[in-house]
Amino acid sequence: MLITIYYIIILRRIQMLTLSKDMEIGVVKIDNQHKELVNRLNAVSAMGSKSISREETQKTINLLSDYVVKHFYDEELLQRQSGYPKYDWHKEQHNQFINDFQQLRNEFLKNGSSAKFTLTLSNSVIDWVVRHIKFADAEFGMHYNRTH
Ligand SMILES: [Fe+2]
Repeated sequence: MLITIYYIIILRRIQMLTLSKDMEIGVVKIDNQHKELVNRLNAVSAMGSKSISREETQKTINLLSDYVVKHFYDEELLQRQSGYPKYDWHKEQHNQFINDFQQLRNEFLKNGSSAKFTLTLSNSVIDWVVRHIKFADAEFGMHYNRTH
């Protein structure tokens, strides 16, 4: 009974992310990729309230992680091409995120999915993505639009 209540409380706290206007950075390719990133992130968050197979869970996590790698690659390429002065710092933020995400993924591979796992994933990943887009990516967007 207590465990059921605990899970209900946890699952209620899972956020679904929407890409608000203040998260647009003014670079069409990146803004479109952020939309897709948010869709894939929400698909991962939504797993917490469904009973799905381990295989399906793994597939959903892989779809997100593959897209994160592609998106960071494309964004970093645009930064190099436009001579972005904070490229090294920005790339370091991306690398750190990939490492942290990899750790969460390994945790899932070891222990399987759980409400706690989904909550951590949802809260920590979504918080990071929102902050990163609003500050780091927005700063790059200003640079890009000044130089194009
Ligand atoms: Fe970024």
